[in-house]
Amino acid sequence: MLQSTSLHVAIIMDGNGRWAARRGLPRAAGHRAGADAVRRVVEAAPGQGVAALTLFAFSADNWKRPPTEVAALMRLFARHLRTETARLVANGVRLEVVGRRDRLPAPLVAAIQAAELATAGGTALRFRLAVDYSARAAIPAGQLLPDVDLLIRTGGEQRLSDFLLWECAYAELYFTELMWPDFAAADLADALRAFHARQRRFGGLPEAAAG
Ligand code: IPE
Ligand code: IPE
Ligand code: MG
Repeated sequence: MLQSTSLHVAIIMDGNGRWAARRGLPRAAGHRAGADAVRRVVEAAPGQGVAALTLFAFSADNWKRPPTEVAALMRLFARHLRTETARLVANGVRLEVVGRRDRLPAPLVAAIQAAELATAGGTALRFRLAVDYSARAAIPAGQLLPDVDLLIRTGGEQRLSDFLLWECAYAELYFTELMWPDFAAADLADALRAFHARQRRFGGLPEAAAG
């Protein structure tokens, strides 16, 4: 099997709230468990041929949620960045946060800047976290990322929810019923196996038919 080593995988991390509800837990507990899944996937990605990983953590439309949930998410993002930075550095992960910063709480902006600076030398994985991100806002502003090879969405919904609309022009789409907190290294491997079994044509002809 031909295995590219420079894949860009993007993930819409959905299902934290339902994961928590099924356990009789508050939604915030689902988001905390979701942060553990982020660590697992970031650490598994380089070993699975992923060079760039872009995770959708908070959409521009997620401001519509109750202020208590939004505030809990912002605190969780800041705490996660602070506590994970040393691991990211140790693993050679370069972190970059994409999206608007002007609406984020100051402590989160500070945590983002510190984590980006500390991890700037990482070469094992380009890890982008999308926070207050909207593809419809990013495209006319020219804030474009590399083309996505594989787009994964957990949580059972089959839609893009304003994530990387331009970059996913020829992305392979992979939807799973797994809730994000349940997503593990083996599930990333399953998605990549499915990806490698597909034939990408980019509008051309299959290799066997091309002359
Ligand atoms: C994804 O999980 C995380 C964010 C959008 C912040 P959700 O919070 O959307 O979880 P569900 O879809 O309600 O289960
Ligand atoms: C998409 O999930 C945004 C993130 C995962 C950050 P949502 O839960 O907000 O999406 P919809 O509302 O189901 O489309
Ligand atoms: Mg959701």
